[in-house]
Amino acid sequence: PSDTHITDYDFSFEGPFGTYDQNQLQRGLKVYTEICSGCHGLKFVPIRTLGDPGGPSFSEEQVKVYASEIEVFDRELNDGQGDFRTATPTDHFPNVVAVGAPDLSLMAKARAGFHGPANLGINQLVKGMGGAEYIASLLAGYTGEEKEQAGTVLYENTAFPGGWISMSPPLYGDDVEFDDGSPTDLESTAQDVAAFLMWTAEPKLAARKQMGLTAIIMLGVLSVLLYLTNKRIWAPVK
Ligand code: HEM
Repeated sequence: PSDTHITDYDFSFEGPFGTYDQNQLQRGLKVYTEICSGCHGLKFVPIRTLGDPGGPSFSEEQVKVYASEIEVFDRELNDGQGDFRTATPTDHFPNVVAVGAPDLSLMAKARAGFHGPANLGINQLVKGMGGAEYIASLLAGYTGEEKEQAGTVLYENTAFPGGWISMSPPLYGDDVEFDDGSPTDLESTAQDVAAFLMWTAEPKLAARKQMGLTAIIMLGVLSVLLYLTNKRIWAPVK
């Protein structure tokens, strides 16, 4: 709806040649792990992909250490009753359902930041879909107002459609510490975790863009060859 406000943040992965910023993805993972993972799962994301090129690009050792620090629910343990155990790189991130918070694996593609004008979607052609912008704006969009409705506390948020969300503000600024000395203010960490969630939703973005470029170049070469062939074939007639 047009009454919401989405900031058009500049992300490194925008545009035809954009790629993820490896350091930003690592910072975003840290924000997710320390704050969001308490309520939100990433059930479609295999932990081993943290080591994939184009992503956070963890070393094999870092992936193992990360996995060893989280617990997953294994249905096959405990005579089929299921039980928790330490994760391994081949497991997916946990599926968290406790407080009814939606899974975040694909959230950056499930939401659009830009609409209009007049529902034409022209803004999306110009600025992109804006899933990451929506998430960052949501995290930075709390006004501080709250109200209780039907036994639920709702928080006013300028990015959330309808204006009132049941998620309490997860970030305030200085919620995490970064080894690389990057800023930890609210808007920076919101963009970091939004970039990370863009990667979970679209891990092959760079490969896809490269393939697109290769295809355009090949089609261009083909067009030239066809043009010249065509001229030669018709040369005796003309
Ligand atoms: C909803 C992100 C932390 C509880 C959401 C949504 C996003 C999100 C993108 C979906 C909004 C929509 O439907 O358009 C995040 C991020 C977090 C975080 C990036 C960490 C920085 C938390 C925490 C909790 C929580 C710690 C629990 C205390 C919820 C709930 C909803 C929600 C209950 C559903 C809200 C509603 O539909 O009214 N979150 N979240 N989130 N989140 Fe979070």
